Amino acid sequence: MANLLTLLTFLATFFGLNGASLNLRPRQFVNAVGFGDRFGSINTNSEESDHFKLLAADGDSLLVGARNAVYNLSLASLSVNHRIDWKPPAEHIEECIMKGKSKADCQNYIRVLARKSDGHALVCGTHAFSPKCREYAYNSQDGSVKNTRQFDGQGISPYDPRDNSTALYIPESNEIYTGTVTDFAGNDALIYRKSIGEGQAGRGNVRTQRDDVRVLDAPNFVASFTYKEHIYFWFREQAAEAVDNNEERVVYARVSRVCKNDRGGARPANERWTSFLKARLNCSLSSAAPFYFNELKAVSEPIAAGANDHTVYAVFSTPSSELQMSAVCAFSMKRIRDEFEYGSFKYQRTVQSLWLPYGRNEIPKPRPGTCVPDSTKLPEATISFVLRNPLMHKAIESIGPPLLVEGADRADLTQIAVLPRVDSVSDQRYDIVFLGTSDGRVLKVVEIAGNATVIQATSVFNKGTPIVNLLTTPTHLVIVSADEIASLAVQNCAQQSTCSRCVQLQDPHCAWDSNSHRCVHRDSWSGGHYIQNMVFGQSEQCPEGIVVNEVFGDDEVQSERIMTSRVGQYTAQMLLLAVLLAAVISGVVGVFIGFRFSRWLTASEAHRSASSTSGSDYDSFGRARLTRHDSLTTASKIDHAYIGQQPKASMDATSLVLSMNQSVHQPHHPMSISQHGSGINTPSRDKNAILTSINQNTLPRDYKVKKVYL
Ligand SMILES: *[C@@H]1O[C@H](CO)[C@@H](O)[C@H](O)[C@H]1NC(C)=O
Ligand SMILES: *[C@@H]1O[C@H](CO)[C@@H](O)[C@H](O)[C@H]1NC(C)=O
Ligand SMILES: *[C@@H]1O[C@H](CO)[C@@H](O)[C@H](O)[C@H]1NC(C)=O
Ligand SMILES: *[C@@H]1O[C@H](CO)[C@@H](O)[C@H](O)[C@H]1NC(C)=O
Repeated sequence: MANLLTLLTFLATFFGLNGASLNLRPRQFVNAVGFGDRFGSINTNSEESDHFKLLAADGDSLLVGARNAVYNLSLASLSVNHRIDWKPPAEHIEECIMKGKSKADCQNYIRVLARKSDGHALVCGTHAFSPKCREYAYNSQDGSVKNTRQFDGQGISPYDPRDNSTALYIPESNEIYTGTVTDFAGNDALIYRKSIGEGQAGRGNVRTQRDDVRVLDAPNFVASFTYKEHIYFWFREQAAEAVDNNEERVVYARVSRVCKNDRGGARPANERWTSFLKARLNCSLSSAAPFYFNELKAVSEPIAAGANDHTVYAVFSTPSSELQMSAVCAFSMKRIRDEFEYGSFKYQRTVQSLWLPYGRNEIPKPRPGTCVPDSTKLPEATISFVLRNPLMHKAIESIGPPLLVEGADRADLTQIAVLPRVDSVSDQRYDIVFLGTSDGRVLKVVEIAGNATVIQATSVFNKGTPIVNLLTTPTHLVIVSADEIASLAVQNCAQQSTCSRCVQLQDPHCAWDSNSHRCVHRDSWSGGHYIQNMVFGQSEQCPEGIVVNEVFGDDEVQSERIMTSRVGQYTAQMLLLAVLLAAVISGVVGVFIGFRFSRWLTASEAHRSASSTSGSDYDSFGRARLTRHDSLTTASKIDHAYIGQQPKASMDATSLVLSMNQSVHQPHHPMSISQHGSGINTPSRDKNAILTSINQNTLPRDYKVKKVYL
């Protein structure tokens, strides 16, 4: 078995190099470690991380939360404009240490910052595991900053600097929307809205109900933004509706939203959202059995895409393991809105039942989750429905297949920033996607007619330094790690010195200037004659003509090229091997599934008898929970044993290999990709492309294979 695994990994690696969107080879490598404008990392003590977090970009300045400080940096040079120091008092630190936290964690890590309409800055931090907020007034005469108010930051800032939380301040209503946790242990996760006004304590504050795994369960928030009349929250969480083969809950990617004008329901639901809905995000490689990237890691802002729609680009990964894979998918905001507005709701009648959609006539009116002028007047039926069933039945599918997939042999993708609508020489517009990795690099990616091209891979920090935030302006890219910030130009056109190599970058920022014979950035395009070919990456207009398989100068590319040519040589042989392997595996798997299925049957019988009395509690769950929260009793977290899913529902590599075997015999599998925004349809891929892509989709999944065979 160990040999089989090695062989599988070997094959996966090699097929991976030849892929359409898997493990694409960057056109250009840039080593920028130690270059560009830098901030931080001067006296880094490895035990005391700064936990930098990019909190806002405010005109020409960047606001960065750090340990016991907020930095206001100049966007142009990363020099410090201002700095606010805020250390927790010694007794707070002692108390925090007594509760078992490390001295390094018992500091004030600033996690939230917003500029209020009165010009004051709202700043919130972990404050030695006891979150606090302050308001600061800026005196433009002497440049000093004065603390004018301090209040409890519970539900606004997390307790732990590592917690993945999100906050969005809305100046018009002086309210803050957050996705975070409200307790020391980090168990009570919530989506919350709090009024920041003085003397407004408690008024208009609304939250998700606690201790209900159908609402939120151990979420990691990645972003929030306002879009039309809603606030959207993006996160990953343990899905109440899904268990894997070992009856463990699976993490799913989610998008959720609340209405800005939601005032909560009538008592006792007066502090509950009446509009909180959520849906699963589906970023997957399709074959007979889809291969899912379930763990949402980062999302972009909504990017304008045609009439009345916006695209959100998102980074996903498979569960963490040494064979983790990442992918980038794009989603239509219109599609998300439509699902929330017209889709059906998913529910489970009893703890033992399957999750099913509600029938049209079972959904109360007005429709649960709709924005209404006065939510406190909503009928009880609507409110209790939405509190119990916030999940939409259908998952939101991405726009076409993943834009890019990074295999297990590549660093994980961690962050994303999109520079929208960059003009090419021929006035076509392209969204440029920048991706941060777990090994301190940034990839610059552009989608051309449905295919991704990795224009450039830039090493920004030492290997092993994950990128935690990315921000792009039309000229600069700001890259944030826990202890260092860098600012680099968005392009490196000048690195290429011939026309064909310049054109080959397929970078909308770069074109060959046939007068000065240089690869130049768009800033210097004026008059003259510029050569660029975004679609084919080669041009007859180049003096050297069309150069196929251009060899780049970089060593890193060289080594990859050697491997690529080997793949070419052995491809047929390897395909044969893969098919043979699949046949062997399907034999083994058949036996295995039989075994699992019988185990599953036994297990579900056991659960059924154990939990047979919990059915009625569960049906009146929404109400029972409400009363409990209002009296502020902390109930222990109820963790339903969700069973009753077919073992097949969560796909693993073994079944994928099986389905690959089937697909090989279905050459007419349609796979047409429509590019968002432009309405261009690229032709279906041919049979060989499908075969290759299925192999690629299948084989790298051996982190599951590993689980199965070892
Ligand atoms: C997109 O990729 C496919 C598969 O590699 C290729 O056949 C097709 O020509 C590409 N399209 C463009 C416009 O490059
Ligand atoms: C950051 O500093 C700049 C330059 O002094 C100032 O204009 C800006 O208002 C500051 N931002 C905040 C949020 O304090
Ligand atoms: C926050 O997210 C990062 C990256 O996705 C992850 O490595 C980390 O464990 C998360 N933090 C917590 C407390 O779960
Ligand atoms: C996710 O998308 C894939 C590909 O479009 C599809 O085959 C699959 O059924 C979808 N899954 C869910 C849960 O909707």
